[in-house]
This record gives sequence, structure tokens and C-alpha cells, in this order.
Amino acid sequence: MRTFNNILITGGAGFIGSNMVRYLFEGYANFAGRVINLDSLTYAGNPESLADIAERYGKGAKPRYVFVQGDICDRPLIEKLFKDYEIDAVIHFAAESHVDRSIVGPEAFIRTNVMGTFTLLDVARNAWKTSDGTLRKDVLFHHISTDEVYGSLGETGYFTETTAYDPRSPYSASKAGSDHLVMAYHHTYGLPVTLTNCSNNYGPYQFPEKLIPLMILNMTEGKPLPVYGDGKNIRDWLYVEDHNSAVWLVMRQGKIGEKYNIGGENEWQNIELLKKLINIVAEETGKNTNDLRSLITYVKDRPGHDRRYAIDCSKLKGELGWSQSVSFEEGLRKTVRWYLANPTWVAHVRSGEYRSWIEKNYDKR
Ligand code: NAD
Ligand code: DAU
Repeated sequence: MRTFNNILITGGAGFIGSNMVRYLFEGYANFAGRVINLDSLTYAGNPESLADIAERYGKGAKPRYVFVQGDICDRPLIEKLFKDYEIDAVIHFAAESHVDRSIVGPEAFIRTNVMGTFTLLDVARNAWKTSDGTLRKDVLFHHISTDEVYGSLGETGYFTETTAYDPRSPYSASKAGSDHLVMAYHHTYGLPVTLTNCSNNYGPYQFPEKLIPLMILNMTEGKPLPVYGDGKNIRDWLYVEDHNSAVWLVMRQGKIGEKYNIGGENEWQNIELLKKLINIVAEETGKNTNDLRSLITYVKDRPGHDRRYAIDCSKLKGELGWSQSVSFEEGLRKTVRWYLANPTWVAHVRSGEYRSWIEKNYDKR
């Protein structure tokens, strides 16, 4: 079982990263060390998501939670963080993550997802060198990736860890590039790495451009529910905490230099998912189901829209004993309740208003 003292989390102000920080301090992980959260705060990053964690763990002479606003492409900054905080593990979440944005503006994806990952890997390689030139063995670089690198499935079949990469959007191509760099740094330089490829996440603190939070909020606001194409594209959904429990397990017990698929084993056509979500929102808000259904609006398809993703996570289950813990019904209900209960977070993340909060609360590097 590997243990760590000082974990650098990149992208920890985003959706999955902020849930990971929460999981480390207050979830099953019960992590006793320090977390350095490096995030440049793009439109998707909101430090308010961790305001309570900053309050509880970010104070005093030796805080256990440190937030740094900065870019993963900024090499001198990363070098300084490795040195100042004696980083012995990295969990690399930071990325441009939205497929639609990658179609409109791919450049930011190449910069952050490819160049940013390269910068982190290269700094880690130098920082973790021993006096005889070999790399330390008591450290770990964990890379967070996606099932989208495998491409698109037809009606049958699953992505396994040996499925050939076939990315089809600028987003997934940039993630595939980052995965290859991670593995190259392991094979060439001996950098201790693990890598996970996960299916679609949902849960609290997800930026409301992604399907589930967008639909919940549009329902509450009486806005159209835009369904791309025929609505029959299939995604495999996993509650965010189950993603993070798998990441933590792989970091602690997974084989160095290996990749593990993570999935919900929970496939839904978009339109069927939307109908299920409508029923839950109706129950939670008292709105009329038929009124909500009348908001469904079929719109032009996403260019190159992948038809189906489905993950085979039997390696993770068999080797490490992981399993999903949150049913779709339960996870969706928790998510709906969270969005209904947190209008201020929603308003701030949409307007970028939290930026004034950060000016008051944190020093910029
Ligand atoms: P997100 O968009 O919610 O968060 C990304 C975070 O990274 C933001 O806080 C943003 O400010 C930060 N960031 C972006 N560019 C940066 C840069 N150059 N330097 C520092 N920080 C930067 O994304 P998410 O949904 O939380 O995804 C996190 C990771 O998980 C990504 O690597 C993504 O590819 C992967 N992933 C996501 C899903 C999913 O369903 N959301 C599934 C599988 C894998
Ligand atoms: O599979 C993992 C990936 O899941 C992650 O790597 C990505 O970071 C994450 O954004 C997500 O990608 P998707 O493209 O699958 O997620 P998104 O929420 O954008 O869309 C889910 C499905 O819903 C997809 O088939 C497109 C469709 N959709 C999406 C939106 C935003 C709609 O029909 N209407 C919409 O308005």
C-alpha cells in the first residue's frame, strides 16, 4: 500500500478535482497529509467549491490545504511548488474538458492538455531524480483521463485497457496525447505513473455546460432542453465520488506503469436519461412532468458526435476489488437536490463572480 505526504492536485477547483479534495480530507480516504491545489481558474474553476475546506484545513502556520492560482504550463511555478512543498504525489485533473468548446476553439485544449501535461511530467522527472540519476520509487504521478480516447462504439462491445486509441474530437485527441506522454515518461525515464480512463461523471459542483447540470437548471428555469441529433447517443454514467474512490485505490494499490478503466456499468441513451431526470426534478420541485417534457427540443447534432461509450472495468474490480457504491437513481436525486439547494454557487460560476471572492481570500502567485 503506497502512502503520500504532500499531494499536488491540478485542476482542484474544477468539478472532479474539487470533489477529490473533499474526498481526501473528509471522505473515505481520510488522508492525513497536505494537499496543494494548483488551478488557473478558467471559466470552469471555482474556488468557492472548496470554501469550507479552505476554512477548516487552510489556516494556521502549516496549513494542510493550500490553494495556488497558477497555470500547469508555468514551469518555474511548478518547480517552485515541488520544492517548497516537497511534493511526493501528483493527481493531474487540470484540463480543458468540454467537447463542444474543443470544436469551437481547439487551441486551448492542445496547450493545457498536451503542453501542460508535458510540463508537469518534465518537472516531476527532474524533481524526483536521486543523486545517482535514477528516479525515486516512493513517489507517484497519477494521470486522470477519459474513455473518449478510445473513440466511439457501435451497439455492442466495450472499451478495455487494451482497446486501441481512436480519439475523434480535439478534446479527446488532446487527452490521448497526454496519456501517451504519461506512458512515455514511465517507459523512457522510469517515472512512477498510474493512469485511469473514466466514463461520464455527474454530481455536485459540475459546471452547468455538461448535460446533467445543464438540463436540471434549464428545467428549473423553464428553458428548452437541447437534445443533440436523435438523442440516442449512449453514455456510461458514474457518480463523481465513485470515480474518486477508484482513483485513490489505484494510487495506493494499482500497478506502477499500468492503466485502469473506471466506469459505471450504467449505459443510458441521452433521451432516456433526460426522461428519468425529468421525473426526479418533477418530484423534487413539484413541477408538472408533462410541462417539463414539453421543453425537450431536438437540436443540430454535435459534429463528429461519438455514438456510444461503454467501459469494461473488470480489471479494476478484479485486481483491486473496487465497485460502484452509488446507484443512478440515488446519485441523480442527490445531484438534483444539490443544484436546487445551491443557487448562489450556480449564479457565481455562471457569472464568474467568485473572482472577486478569490481576490479577497487568496494571494496570487
Ligand atoms: P472541469 O472543466 O470541471 O475542471 C477543470 C479544471 O482545470 C478547472 O478548475 C480549470 O480551472 C482547471 N484548468 C484548466 N486549464 C488549466 C491550466 N492550464 N492550468 C491549471 N488549471 C487549469 O473538468 P472535470 O470535469 O472536473 O475534469 C477533470 C479531469 O477529468 C479532466 O482531465 C477530464 O479530462 C477528466 N475526465 C472528466 C470526465 C467527466 O465526465 N467530467 C470523465 C473522465 C475524465
Ligand atoms: O466520457 C467522459 C467525458 O464525458 C469526459 O472526458 C468529458 O470531459 C466530459 O465533458 C464528458 O463528455 P461528453 O461529451 O460525453 O459530455 P456532455 O455532458 O457534453 O454530453 C453528454 C451527452 O449529451 C453527449 O452525447 C452529448 C449530449 N448533449 C450534451 C449537451 C451539453 C446533448 O444532447 N445536449 C446538450 O446540451
